[in-house]
Amino acid sequence: MQGTGIRLPAGKEEMIPQSLTRDVVLWWLRENDETKLETLWQEADRTRKEYVGDAVHLRGLIEMSSFCRRDCHYCGIRGSRQIDRYRLSEAEVEECVRLGVRLGYGTVVLQAGEDPGLSRERITRHIRFIKSETPLAATLSLGERSDAELAEWREAGADRYLLRYETSDMALFRRIHPDCGTEVSDRIEFLRRLKRLGYEAGSGVMVGIPGQSFETLADDILLFRELDLDMVGVGPYLAHPDTPLGRAAAPLSLPPREQVPATDVMTTKTIALTRLVCPDVNIPSTTALATVNTENGRELGLERGANVWMPNLTPTRYRALYEIYPDKACAGDTAEECQACLLRRIASLGRVPGTGPGGRVRTADSRSNAR
Ligand code: 5AD
Ligand code: FES
Repeated sequence: MQGTGIRLPAGKEEMIPQSLTRDVVLWWLRENDETKLETLWQEADRTRKEYVGDAVHLRGLIEMSSFCRRDCHYCGIRGSRQIDRYRLSEAEVEECVRLGVRLGYGTVVLQAGEDPGLSRERITRHIRFIKSETPLAATLSLGERSDAELAEWREAGADRYLLRYETSDMALFRRIHPDCGTEVSDRIEFLRRLKRLGYEAGSGVMVGIPGQSFETLADDILLFRELDLDMVGVGPYLAHPDTPLGRAAAPLSLPPREQVPATDVMTTKTIALTRLVCPDVNIPSTTALATVNTENGRELGLERGANVWMPNLTPTRYRALYEIYPDKACAGDTAEECQACLLRRIASLGRVPGTGPGGRVRTADSRSNAR
């Protein structure tokens, strides 16, 4: 693979991140030759093994509420859609957390639309419950909440926070994320704030958003490193037919050759390059990847750089209502079915389920690059 910058002399592997320039990332994103791509998959898998090992960390996802005050153009639970919505009771959330402990997961993720009905006090109570009654790490994924809320939740013991920036192309971002009243969204600044407060910060992008170019996706990947993210989740964009972006599938703003396709291969290229650029971060093999490739999407993610699985803990009767995109994988399953399925599939890859919270373990390399 001469000229790609990936092959390095033995013992110099720690130099891989620096050697991946924007041009090399772009070159790989455009590469379609399966034999060449095999090198990328192998290098990503080797780097994953070297930096984060064979454990697949399990984060139980609790979709707490489908109410959302934002109106993202691609999302099935956008606020302006007239759909049935739900918000779990506090007791239901606690039951999901307990189930996560019983199923052996190391983390619970409290996720919801940006729902003002989930008060600061209520989330604080949930965090206190998780931290005092269970050994789990507590991750929040509740949208762009206020500084005061973030500070209080961190104080209460929240460990991590997830907010994808979706794309680093600010013009594209603005086209698909209308402002919320007078509030302008600034997800990059939000992530910096999280880090200052001492959260582990997770972000990510969708692959194949209409209007996303290869250059943009290369910049997205390099920004993961610049922000010193602890977790990076990427999945393919899946058109939801009852959203403005889903309906507008035909008039793309880019010529077809420049538009990033929303495929499993493009998504796993992004995962693999993320692993090489940010070797010690936690990377999930996402549900969206499992949805675009129902047969072995999860496995492809785990074999091409990912080391995290986020099984759903939401009570099955609510899952269909949290329809951010159609035909979501595992939407009809119980938490117990998901657990049995993932344990079998992790073992079939020769990997092992993670134990404990599974936070980021920094390498010397990432410590010296942290800002
Ligand atoms: N297709 C794929 N992913 C989506 N998300 C939201 N809507 C879609 C869609 N139509 C992703 C976004 C968001 C995460 C919770 O789900 O990246 O950050
Ligand atoms: Fe849910 Fe397989 S992970 S059924």
